[in-house]
Amino acid sequence: MRTTLKIVLPLIVSVASVSLVFAGYQVRNQRRILRNDLARRAEILADGLQESVERVLDRGQEKNLQRLVERYAQREHLKGIAIYDAAGHILAITSGLASALPLHPTAVTNATRQDKGVGEFLPAEQTSAAQETDAVPVHIYALPLHKDEEVAGALVLVHDTSYIEIQASHTLRDALLNALIQTLLISLLALVLVRWTFTEPLTRTAKWVRTLRTGQPNPPPALVQGEIMEQLHHEVTHLARDLHSARAAAEVEARLRDSNASLWTAERLRVSLRDRLQEQPLFVVSNREPYMHVFDGKDKTIKMIVPASGVVTALEPVLLACNGTWVANGSGSADREIVDSRDRLRVPPDRPSYTLRRVWLTDEEEKGYYYGFSNEGLWPLCHIAHTRPIFRPEDWLQYQRINQRFADTVLQEMADVDSPILLAQDYHLALVPRMVKEVRPDARVAIFWHIPWPNAEVFGICPWQRELIDGLLGADLIGFHIQSHCNNFLETVDRALEALTEWDRFAVNRQGHVTRVRPYPISVAFSENPRADVDPDGTSALRSALCQEMGIEATHLGVGVDRVDYTKGILERFRALERFFELNPAYQQRFTFVQIGAPSRTDIERYKNFLDEVSSEADRINARFQTSRWKPIAFRKKHHSHEEISRFYQAASLCMVTSLHDGMNLVAKEFVSAREDERGVLILSTFAGAAHELSDALLVNPYDISQLARAIHRALEMPEQEQSERMQRMRHTVRQHNVYRWAAHLLSDLTEIRIELVERAEA
Ligand code: G6P
Repeated sequence: MRTTLKIVLPLIVSVASVSLVFAGYQVRNQRRILRNDLARRAEILADGLQESVERVLDRGQEKNLQRLVERYAQREHLKGIAIYDAAGHILAITSGLASALPLHPTAVTNATRQDKGVGEFLPAEQTSAAQETDAVPVHIYALPLHKDEEVAGALVLVHDTSYIEIQASHTLRDALLNALIQTLLISLLALVLVRWTFTEPLTRTAKWVRTLRTGQPNPPPALVQGEIMEQLHHEVTHLARDLHSARAAAEVEARLRDSNASLWTAERLRVSLRDRLQEQPLFVVSNREPYMHVFDGKDKTIKMIVPASGVVTALEPVLLACNGTWVANGSGSADREIVDSRDRLRVPPDRPSYTLRRVWLTDEEEKGYYYGFSNEGLWPLCHIAHTRPIFRPEDWLQYQRINQRFADTVLQEMADVDSPILLAQDYHLALVPRMVKEVRPDARVAIFWHIPWPNAEVFGICPWQRELIDGLLGADLIGFHIQSHCNNFLETVDRALEALTEWDRFAVNRQGHVTRVRPYPISVAFSENPRADVDPDGTSALRSALCQEMGIEATHLGVGVDRVDYTKGILERFRALERFFELNPAYQQRFTFVQIGAPSRTDIERYKNFLDEVSSEADRINARFQTSRWKPIAFRKKHHSHEEISRFYQAASLCMVTSLHDGMNLVAKEFVSAREDERGVLILSTFAGAAHELSDALLVNPYDISQLARAIHRALEMPEQEQSERMQRMRHTVRQHNVYRWAAHLLSDLTEIRIELVERAEA
């Protein structure tokens, strides 16, 4: 209340002061107008009477004057008329007027002396009746009278001016009343507004922050719209989230210490890297950027999106934990609008924690390096999905040029850092390790290959396999998801290059430089929410809400989340669904499979056609089974945010990952991580790297449509107890093998290599 008064009181005082000043002005103005009006009326009346009086004086009939003045005296507010001779003696005067006049009115003297009309206002005290109780203020107007061209006296009109004061005081009363009402109304309004817009939301926020402090993670209170409050809401929500995560991290750490377990957390990674890197920043280079800015809608507002990408999903938590610089291609239509003069920006936008340095490519360069060599050449080469790789010399030229550009940018960023650490990412940048190491032999460089590495015969198809392998061997460490990819790589090196492959310690020695080759199964952050937070009715409520949003009715949902890519087995999945509905008609009108499909690389003919193929396959199957309120497949062909996807993960009875071949596949791990309720079944292709860790999924061969259909049925029929046991074990695995562990192992191996190198140099 005191705060409200502090805001409202000055407002009341200001409004009241302004109203009072205005009232005073109004009264003064009115008094002036009335006086002017009266003065003018007196002049007109005197002018009209002057001629008659002069005529009487001319004729010497002074005795008629009294009659004349009495006749004219009947006017509104006119108190009386008097006629003076040149010596100032009264010749005629209306009855009762004498008391309203001073003995020798100044106006009369002045008018006869100056030979012109003179008016004056006299307060009651200056009239002859000043001592009387009925004395009134008056206006005296004297007009000179002439006889034979000489001033022969003066005509005097006396008006009672007390009505002016009466009217002025009425006006003052009205204005004050007005001011009072206005002040009250404005104050009341201000009071309500201040309470509604500030006091109450702030009180609610304060209460909420207090409950947070005491450890209750309540949802933030709903606040009134408005720029300031929204900003505050935004900031406090982040603060609360940070506080909540810090507390959760501390709890986990405490539990860890207690159980002596070896769980990696963001905090543990940060501390461990700080010790290892000695406060040095971490450098990451990848083709895909973690935040893209695009022009949106007709008004071209700038929207930020997080691209659908395994690399981004895995590396963002690492960068958030350790600061540093991420160099990546600025491929968003509005990316150039957001960077500073050195093509940098701090991200994430709401919690700036590390630097994103954007590298620009022309359409031509992107066509050759990204679409051409990387995605029409290397991608199908490394994935056994039976799409023929295309190798064009002009694409290879662009690939080399752009790798050099990325390397140069990285070198520029690390120029001031001694023995920098670089984590290069993926098949787009195979040449970068060698390019960087040539200029900065003191740098410790690792490259992580996010896709499978095929066997030596398959890789041998690539006309530039030697150059690619040589580029990779510039690194001190090469990481793959699983051991068999490491094996394939060493075999490929054996066949393609003159280098010493050391199978006993999984390393390659080329011209004295040793490159270690190790498996590091990549993962997700795994949200560590206490079990108590899970609402048992939440899943079905969420499912109903999603069904309503999609305009369908279903009691079970399945979900698939993929970039629309021919390696993901989406068509096989749809055909298995068709088979499932044929075999299990009881599930028709009860089970809907939601396929979230982010269109990807659509500038490539194969991808564009594939997107069409997936759409028409969904349409074909839907046409077979759908009713007015239900359809078997809801194909959502657009980019979805993490938050949107997470709702589907949480509401689904099953998730299908049916890749024909996949390095790891983080969707499988994201689904497991999202299922805090320990329910839901994962159907997982044995050809995805994730199958090595998630053996409690229903493992399937996506080429075997009948087996897939049976897996769908088994998942939907699985007893809750079994679901829970499987999910618990998978969650344990993903919790233990999270992305922090991936980064910690990769980076600690890399930093240890540096120590060996230093020792060798000293020896
Ligand atoms: C795979 C690759 C990633 C890539 C992702 C998305 O997961 O290993 O490097 O970021 O696909 O592909 P895009 O071509 O959209 O970057």
